[in-house]
Amino acid sequence: MFGVEGGRPTVLRILVLHGPNLNLLGTREQSIYGTMSLETIDLSLHRLGEELGAQLVIRQSNHEGELVTWIQEARRDCQGIIINPAAYTHTSIAIRDALAAVDLPTVEVHLSNIYRRETFRQQSYVSGVAVAQVSGFGPSGYLLALRGLCEHVAKVSPTGSKPVISPADRSRTSLT
Ligand code: DQA
Repeated sequence: MFGVEGGRPTVLRILVLHGPNLNLLGTREQSIYGTMSLETIDLSLHRLGEELGAQLVIRQSNHEGELVTWIQEARRDCQGIIINPAAYTHTSIAIRDALAAVDLPTVEVHLSNIYRRETFRQQSYVSGVAVAQVSGFGPSGYLLALRGLCEHVAKVSPTGSKPVISPADRSRTSLT
């Protein structure tokens, strides 16, 4: 439970987006990204979400337009976004514009510290429209982002969360 609105318990709903090639985590460039799979990261996020009273909708795509559509849709029923845009961080004005358009508190996550890597990775189009960026803590960065975002939303919009949904609805909307 996140809060109480009109005597009814409310739950916070957060969209978590993973960009291109993050489906390969665990096998992809292990010296940079580690050995944890995306499934395991998502599981730990769901666990923490339950602890914090946040329902997570987690999605991964290798396609920019799909990520843009999901960001737009989040306006309907989410109170915040956690996004690792992966390579689109450094190229996508479309993703930045979508985040600016929906105007939901957003935390940008990177497994690696992008500022210690190649020059082309040291620019983020997303950071300018994000509340915060977590970069370099590996998979723990997602958990830090979730804690920070929940605290931030509670501060700026304590009654803005949605009514609690049933477990049946939850399994329909929770993709992992
Ligand atoms: C990344 C960093 C990006 O530069 C890269 O393209 C990725 C992953 C990270 O999580 O460290 O795919 O976003």
